[in-house]
Amino acid sequence: MSLNVHDIRKDFPVLDQEVHGKPFVYLDNGATTQKPQSVITAISDFYEKSNSNIHRGVHHLSDLATRAYEDARNKITTFINAQTSAEVIFTKGATESINLVAFSFGEKFIKEGDEIIVSEMEHHANIVPWQMLCERKNAKLVVLPMNDTGELLTSELPKLITARTKLLALTVVSNVIGTVNPVKEIIETAHKQGVKVLVDASQSIQHMKTDVQDLDCDFLVFSGHKIYASTGIGVLYGKEKLLEQMPPYQGGGDMIKTVSFTKTVYNELPFKFEAGTTDYVGAHSLHVAIDYLERIGLENIAAYESELQQYMREQLAQIPGITIYGNAEKNAAAVSFLLKGIHHYDTGMLLDKLGIAVRTGTHCCQPAMQHYGIDGTIRASACFYNTKEEIDSLVKGLQRIQRMFE
Ligand code: ALA
Repeated sequence: MSLNVHDIRKDFPVLDQEVHGKPFVYLDNGATTQKPQSVITAISDFYEKSNSNIHRGVHHLSDLATRAYEDARNKITTFINAQTSAEVIFTKGATESINLVAFSFGEKFIKEGDEIIVSEMEHHANIVPWQMLCERKNAKLVVLPMNDTGELLTSELPKLITARTKLLALTVVSNVIGTVNPVKEIIETAHKQGVKVLVDASQSIQHMKTDVQDLDCDFLVFSGHKIYASTGIGVLYGKEKLLEQMPPYQGGGDMIKTVSFTKTVYNELPFKFEAGTTDYVGAHSLHVAIDYLERIGLENIAAYESELQQYMREQLAQIPGITIYGNAEKNAAAVSFLLKGIHHYDTGMLLDKLGIAVRTGTHCCQPAMQHYGIDGTIRASACFYNTKEEIDSLVKGLQRIQRMFE
């Protein structure tokens, strides 16, 4: 493995602190990732040296800011292997990207009686915008179920697709149970029946190579803050031909060419979908974060995280009285579990007292919780700056909590 985790940790200042007098162990990377110094510096440098609104001024700083913004778009175009930068739209985050598609694709293509499929393990952000669309259009939401292992019942998919199915929305990696879904296969099945596919890459973009042309997805979304960039920036990738046909999502500056009281002419892609002043500093931070990941090497990150993930599952499984939810053959990033007789909030709060940050609750995935008949879990989500020693601290912490409740 060519990744030196102890050197890498020095790049993340927030990790070097004590919480409640204990060394800080951050295992809540599924919720948000910490930022490397290069990203933090890039953000403050931007405000110190080149801040100005983009696409609006003829002056020097406006030019610098515009170039940084468009360079970021070009970086992401290459990073996800989009065909053209016109297919890369900046949004506030994955949630806004999905809402944009649900509104705009919905306006153009969804009629009364049409059907949209989502999987049972989706985050609320990939359920609710589709439900809202179905309510607006009198369309139907159909669910692709999963089994207790946390794997989607993909063999059911051809039966769920009907002549009225217009779109399927699913995540690459479950934010709760860590399942890696066979997205490419699912897209092939959907496309055979003319169904468009939106892929939520929020929990995969930071862990594995993303190639939109290889996947052949119609839309792909992710949030910057989950890939070591700042909050408030996200991406919507869409196939150019589809985006061309879709109406704007919001009206305002940058999405227009000309305005009069009788008629407004919309701007071309990608600006047609970027109303208002976007988070151009966030876009730059995303560029710098991707540069940082590429310096380490995505393959090195994937190899290290896979080892860490396996170690975490093995070590947790050895704790008597633990139930781990989901154990798919391919999993990444997140492990969800409960300790017998101890509420997840109590476990989370006591772990915090030991300096360990995990997430507790439903993880914005109430349907997945309903599948298991529970009201929440503890979720530990690791990434490439975590160590096996930190996993050991988590295991020891959980055993200590169990002793307290005995
Ligand atoms: N979607 C984020 C999570 O999984 C917030 O924690």
